[in-house]
Amino acid sequence: MLKVSDLSVSFGGVQAVRRVNFEVQAGSVMGLVGPNGAGKSTTIEAISGFVRAQGSAKIDGIELIGHRPSHATQRGLVRTFQQAQLWGGLPVRLNISLGARISGKSPVVAEVLERLGLTTQKEVYAADLPYGTRRLVEVARAIACDPKVLLLDEPGAGLTEGERDLLVEVITALKEQGKSILLVDHDMALIRAVSHEVTVMDAGSVIASGDPESVFSNPRVIETYLGPGE
Ligand SMILES: Nc1ncnc2c1ncn2[C@@H]1O[C@H](COP(=O)(O)OP(=O)(O)OP(=O)(O)O)[C@@H](O)[C@H]1O
Ligand SMILES: [Mg+2]
Repeated sequence: MLKVSDLSVSFGGVQAVRRVNFEVQAGSVMGLVGPNGAGKSTTIEAISGFVRAQGSAKIDGIELIGHRPSHATQRGLVRTFQQAQLWGGLPVRLNISLGARISGKSPVVAEVLERLGLTTQKEVYAADLPYGTRRLVEVARAIACDPKVLLLDEPGAGLTEGERDLLVEVITALKEQGKSILLVDHDMALIRAVSHEVTVMDAGSVIASGDPESVFSNPRVIETYLGPGE
């Protein structure tokens, strides 16, 4: 279980994340949404140890804040990046197996390739893949690490409809396996399809949280997305 308490991040004068709180239970998906610049990616950076933060983020009671990214990895946390970070000069197969090995796992590459519909592309260099497929390879690499907690930063961006459906299936299977998943995305259909709970951020702060239906009918959330008067 991931528990985030009073998490804050400042970059010079900009407070990108302000006292954010949420929990992601084992076997559940928390959708984290909000307009551009709301602080969603920075929240992921902070939890995974890539930026300095105040407050707390714990996996099963163990503090992650104040430690290096490798500490979070050793506690079972894996994150993806908003811009897919693949080794362009290596085939898909090696991107997945090396990624998992770095985190100390011996991956079941064939199974992961199959689950994400990547088997026929396993020998293609990552640099030669279309954008959406690169995103799926990043998700595949994350899954191959067999994480307890998975932080996904816009995995749905640039996917075709078919790829998106596949992503929904994969995330659903992961939650059934008991993973805690934090899903950041702008695709509200994806968020609604898989999230048990949704947290909405705006300008660094949480402005709403709860079940998807109540959050998306909250007037403040509607105004944040559509602007006043629309
Ligand atoms: N490394 C950094 N240095 C300075 N400011 C940063 C840095 N990273 C993010 N910011 C600022 O922090 C704020 C939050 O950015 P963040 O990338 O977390 O937003 P986001 O919710 O992920 O947006 P998007 O939906 O566009 O990805 C923005 O004002 C951004 O300019
Ligand atoms: Mg972002």
